[in-house]
Amino acid sequence: MEQQTTAAYDIQDASLADEGEQRILWAGRDMPVLQDIRREFTHSQPLKGVSIAACLHVTSETANLMIALKDGGADVALCASNPLSTNDAVAAALALQHGIAVFAKRGEDSATYYAHIRAVLARTPHITMDDGADLVAELHKEQPSWLRALHGGTEETTTGVIRLRALAAEGRLHFPIIAVNDADTKHMFDNRYGTGQSTLDGVIRATNVLLAGSDVVVCGYGWCGRGIARRAQGMGAHVTVTEVDPLRAIEAVMDGFPVAPLASVIDRADVVITATGDINVVRGEHMERAKAGVILANSGHFNDEIDLTWLEKHAVSHHAPRHDVMTYVLPEGRDVHVLAEGRLVNLAAADGHPASVMDMSFANQALSVAHIAAHHGELPRGVVPVPEAIDQEVARRKLASMGVAIDVLTEEQRHYLSSWEGGTA
Ligand code: ADE
Repeated sequence: MEQQTTAAYDIQDASLADEGEQRILWAGRDMPVLQDIRREFTHSQPLKGVSIAACLHVTSETANLMIALKDGGADVALCASNPLSTNDAVAAALALQHGIAVFAKRGEDSATYYAHIRAVLARTPHITMDDGADLVAELHKEQPSWLRALHGGTEETTTGVIRLRALAAEGRLHFPIIAVNDADTKHMFDNRYGTGQSTLDGVIRATNVLLAGSDVVVCGYGWCGRGIARRAQGMGAHVTVTEVDPLRAIEAVMDGFPVAPLASVIDRADVVITATGDINVVRGEHMERAKAGVILANSGHFNDEIDLTWLEKHAVSHHAPRHDVMTYVLPEGRDVHVLAEGRLVNLAAADGHPASVMDMSFANQALSVAHIAAHHGELPRGVVPVPEAIDQEVARRKLASMGVAIDVLTEEQRHYLSSWEGGTA
């Protein structure tokens, strides 16, 4: 039978609330753009009477977003977008000190994970917020009759946008969802610098491995892979990139990285990090050739980039030498270490992206939610972009908060850029 939660919240440990509150305040220090928006929302109440169901990583950065939405008048319910990314102290603070309906426990099993998604959906939201599209997928599978009542939604990540476009292509996405991931002020910074730093943070916290001089293979050269490769190189690792897309492969080559098929380099890799958004990137044929002691980590949204089923089937034994490390011993005695169950290592083994970069992502989220509340009647069904004005506004505010000034076009330059007459002088 399906598990159903009817409580006001479901968290691991209420006694952690004070610690969680300190974490939320700490992250808030580095989120000046979101704090500005929060102050404006508190004054103008753009979300008065709006019910929001959010399925996001339950971190101190997300907490600051939830508080801004609540201060803007919204009724907010939050569940986790990954079973291992919840910070239980933050969840406790949100539930007990901010009156937010949180349904999230770190390490929850799959049945609880989906029961928590259904618990936030049971509040019949006007607006959904997703990171990976599990909430919207569940809504379509379980409660299709509610779809037409929804005003709109937002999606935080590349994988979620890809899933939603697939749903829209089948003509089945019945309300507008703003692809926050696609805003320049989101993916150019969050995916690249946020994932770059936090992924290495996760690998290091889990293993304490020295990256300098080690061979690191990064699978996938999208925004996240670019960031991971560059940060690993910056720490002295010899980085090789694997790709399936010829354009991205050329980009990696011209950025100075060797590019090769995974099967041809895995025998010398000390660390392999996947960031592709696809399944079974590291498969049996790779693990059969892997160097003894290889560390496998995933930074893509879902835990299906490393074929754990193959490892579980072929390993003669497994054990956990450290938190967030599972060692599989293969028949010939070689061991393969998998981090954080193959789930996104930056959130499962570390704290996720730093607050300073989430500031821009979540400023886009907050302004997109307010945009849906104000304009939902005018938005088309399907995946829609973040309005250009919001993206620009977030960039302007972030730059100002950094104390960075830039030049301004002169009248002459503005005119020049909108004319065609002037050519070679
Ligand atoms: N995704 C990546 N890092 C995150 C963070 N710190 N909070 C919420 N979502 C995230």
